[in-house]
Amino acid sequence: MRALAILFVVLLFVGCGSQPAPAPVPKAEEPAAPDTTAPAPVLAHEVQSIVTASCLPCHAAGGSAAKYDLTTPENLAKLVVPGKPDSSKLYQVLASGKMPPSGKLDSTRLATFHKWISEGAKDK
Ligand code: HEC
Repeated sequence: MRALAILFVVLLFVGCGSQPAPAPVPKAEEPAAPDTTAPAPVLAHEVQSIVTASCLPCHAAGGSAAKYDLTTPENLAKLVVPGKPDSSKLYQVLASGKMPPSGKLDSTRLATFHKWISEGAKDK
């Protein structure tokens, strides 16, 4: 039993010694980086998840900007000119850094919105 325990401890050390450093754990509040090469349904899904995480805290019932409700695809669509990101209010406020007020989205997320609108802003 004792020998087994020692063997176990030795194996544990050897095991740990040969392990590469653990991969850094992504910060919990940060959604996974969007894949801008993704096809339309995936893009729409990514846009939705960025909006949920970065916009809905204010732009939904009870939020400080609830009058601009962004919880439905119809309302989001009102801010979009399909095929024309630069003419779309949605993209303008993101690209100018006006929204979200806490700071401009990173370039990967901005590119996701740009591509989604360029490809017609399909919601599925
Ligand atoms: C911290 C709260 C907050 C967050 C988060 C936020 N907004 Fe806003 N947003 C506001 C407020 C408050 C206004 C009204 C400001 C005004 O009228 O100038 C506003 C206004 C807007 C408008 C109308 C602006 C205009 O010029 O007419 C749009 C579009 C908008 N937000 C989009 C977004 C999007 C998209 C996101 C997410 C990327 C977002 N907002 C995140 C608070 C927020």
